[in-house]
Amino acid sequence: MTMFYVGLMTLVVVVTTALMMLGYWISWRSQKLPDVFRGSGFSDGLRKKKSRLRTLIVTAHPDDECMFFSPLIQHLVQLDHKVFLLCLSSGDFYGMGTTRIIELLSSSRVLGIDATHVTVLNDKNLLDNASLDWEPAEVEKHIVKALRNTQADIIISFDGYGVSGHSNHRAIHRTLSKMLKAGHLHKGKAGSQVHAFMLESVAIYRKYCGFFDATVSMFLSPYTVISTPTGYITALRAMVQHWSQLVWFRMLYVAFSRYMMVNTLVPLDATEICNT
Ligand SMILES: *[C@@H]1O[C@H](CO)[C@@H](O)[C@H](O)[C@H]1NC(C)=O
Ligand SMILES: [Zn+2]
Repeated sequence: MTMFYVGLMTLVVVVTTALMMLGYWISWRSQKLPDVFRGSGFSDGLRKKKSRLRTLIVTAHPDDECMFFSPLIQHLVQLDHKVFLLCLSSGDFYGMGTTRIIELLSSSRVLGIDATHVTVLNDKNLLDNASLDWEPAEVEKHIVKALRNTQADIIISFDGYGVSGHSNHRAIHRTLSKMLKAGHLHKGKAGSQVHAFMLESVAIYRKYCGFFDATVSMFLSPYTVISTPTGYITALRAMVQHWSQLVWFRMLYVAFSRYMMVNTLVPLDATEICNT
């Protein structure tokens, strides 16, 4: 009798694992980004056909790029985008700003972003502090400058919740929404329009499901990017560069967080009601 139950349990485990792996594989095969990421859908006609697309990612703290955006960044590098990173603070909450800037450069290099494409600010108006509400006008100033310098075709940042609910993340979203509404999202003065997207935040019960959330994301989001196991290892290697941040709860985070393996994107929408 015992043998029967052991056999049954083994069968259940094997079948469940096989189904999960199949689900992951199917969702990996069906990952998809908006057409603009392949260079189509640009109305301006200004973009030269053969030039590489330029994508600017805006984060609030060193390690955001790695903990939240790494599947996307690696995917963009594979698509041969020129990827730029603007990090609005040096993450100086515990007075480690200088160390964290160096860590950010190493992490970006592991993810495939050239160090010369990384800008990290140290602005007294944009301090790393969840109790401070960053002024949209201050954030906008830096984004406008970055768009002018990088000539980005696409800009990506947080959505209204900002993955973790951190007020600095949400301030970036608030600023981009305002800029889109005001018609300020373009490359420099007479430049063409920039396509804006946000990283979708998911409910807490999905956040720590790791690879298993790939299948759920495939059904719930039109635009998903899913890492291969190798991509996940690259994300872990990038995270190790942030050694000053590797406390136990962040280790748990990187082991289970779906954002280390799955990213879903939503177009920034001018009609969205911005009530934050
Ligand atoms: C964060 O901001 C709050 C509110 O202004 C302030 O009381 C606190 O000292 C700040 N913390 C740091 C580490 O700057
Ligand atoms: Zn952050």
